[in-house]
Parts: sequence; C-alpha cells; structure tokens
Amino acid sequence: MKIGIVGAGMVGSAAGYALALRGGASEVVLVDLDADYARAQAEDISHAVPFAHPCRVRAGEYGDLEGAGAVILAAGVAQQPGESRLSLLSRNAEVFAKVIAGVQGAAPDALLLVATNPVDIMTEVALKASGLPPERVIGSGTILDTARYRSLLATHLGIAAQSVHAYVLGEHGDSEVLAWSAARAGTQPIADFAAQVGAPITDDVRARIDDGVRRAAYRIIEGKGATWYGIGAGLARIVQALRDDQRTVLTVSAVTPKVGETRDVALSLPRVVGSAGIVATLMPDLADDETAALRSSAAILKETSAQLV
Ligand code: 2OP
Repeated sequence: MKIGIVGAGMVGSAAGYALALRGGASEVVLVDLDADYARAQAEDISHAVPFAHPCRVRAGEYGDLEGAGAVILAAGVAQQPGESRLSLLSRNAEVFAKVIAGVQGAAPDALLLVATNPVDIMTEVALKASGLPPERVIGSGTILDTARYRSLLATHLGIAAQSVHAYVLGEHGDSEVLAWSAARAGTQPIADFAAQVGAPITDDVRARIDDGVRRAAYRIIEGKGATWYGIGAGLARIVQALRDDQRTVLTVSAVTPKVGETRDVALSLPRVVGSAGIVATLMPDLADDETAALRSSAAILKETSAQLV
C-alpha cells in the first residue's frame, strides 16, 4: 500500500520511519511546505530501509499522493511547553482546509489518518472538509494513551504490556478516561490479578498511573519540546491494520453519532480497524463514574469544536 504523509515534522517523519521499520507500506511519500526539509527527512529514512523491509521512501508534492491508500495528516503547529492540545485548534483548522484540498486533488478516495492535535477535533474538521464517510476518516486518538496505560499497568503487574487489555477512551487530551473497570490482565479483572500477584492497585498506584498517562505528553514536551516516537509507532500500527485488513481492536478517534447527549462528536472508543477503515465500534462496560467522565469528555470536545463555526 502506498502511504502519503503530509507534514514531515517529527510526528510525520517518525511515522514514516516506523512504517519503514515495520514494513507497513510499499511506498511512503512525504509532503511538506518546506520541500527541502521533506527531502532530507525522506532521504534519512530511506537509509533505514536496507535494515528493514523493501519500501520506497521519497519526498513529493500533493500530486505524488495519487494512488495512496491512506494519507497521514501530521501538518500543523505543535504544543509549546504547558500548552494544552485544545489551544491549537484554530491555527490547525486553517492549515487543514488547504491540506485536505491538496490531498483530495490527487487522492480523492484515500483514507485519511489524522495525527494533528487537537486530534479529535481535527478528525471532525477532516471529515467535514473531505466529504468522506466517517469510517474512512480516522484520528490516532487515544491509541498512544492506551499504549501508555497498558505499559504502566504492565510494569506495575510485572507482565508484558501485550497481556494487559485496557483502554483509554474519549478525548486524546486532558479529559480522557482511563477505563479501570474494563481493564484485564489476560482474562482476569485487573484488580483481581493485581491482588493475586501481591501488587494491589491502591489509590496511590491508580493516581500515579493516571498521572503517568494523562500528563505524559506535558512532561515529554517540557523535556524535549515534542513527542514523536510513540505516536509514530501508533500511526504505523494503524496503517498495518488497514493494509492487512487485520480487524484489530484499537482505540482510535472517529465521528460518533451519539455519546450520552452529545451528537456527532469525534473521540476514541475501541474500534475494529480493517481495510475499509473502521469496521465496527465497541462500547466497553464501564463503571458509572467512567460513563459520566466519557460523556463529559464528549461534551467538552463538542463545545470546543463548536467554536469553529
Ligand atoms: C502526545 O500525547 C502530544 O499528543 C501528543 O504525545
């Protein structure tokens, strides 16, 4: 599958690099306003290819996206230290109007995979601007928060993250919801397993993991200016599910008809991802406080996106 990436900054380039290493694409085309920068990133990534899987990595213009099965949208401004994702909205919505027109001029049917923050609202913006069906406009959403959550739980429990089944739902941002009640180690409820291995999930542990997930990006941005490796790998993971019609359950963002009282809001839920895009959406059983938090997250996102119209 040919994959386009618009925005060759750290997130777009990390996605290209992860795709090259994972073997997620036959061709990767990086497009950026700064063509020299895109060329340099593409050349650098292409030097990793002999160590990985056959894949052509190059820089190009919008026209070079013709035939792409999916295009990753990673263009826009990034957070400054201390800044929330939602504060980027108006600047990045402006960028997207041009980007989506450029992409669709060359690849009108390509699935759009949105990475630009605030990713949920940018997914809604991309859906409206593109006219594509909702299952073909996917935001990376909380795929990264879910990875952070599983990884911290796994460390606490002393097991592999792959054996922890747990989701972060709602906004990819401050109002996200860690679904503790639905978390499992293998097939066991997480609290039962934790007690069994002598690592109970006390209020302190819970608060530490919550902070470790919710505040991760703030800490990383404070330390090195931006985050890119985790999201790059997450984007490559989504592309692989699309390319191979894997029907993998991933927490990704998409415009969802109804969450509580909120209609047509883009947020993350566990979704089955295959070659058609989002094939199905699952609603995990949640505790009452988690359901309330998810509804509140949906309302916050909708209020923020309403500022755009
Ligand atoms: C992250 O969570 C900043 O959204 C980016 O790493």
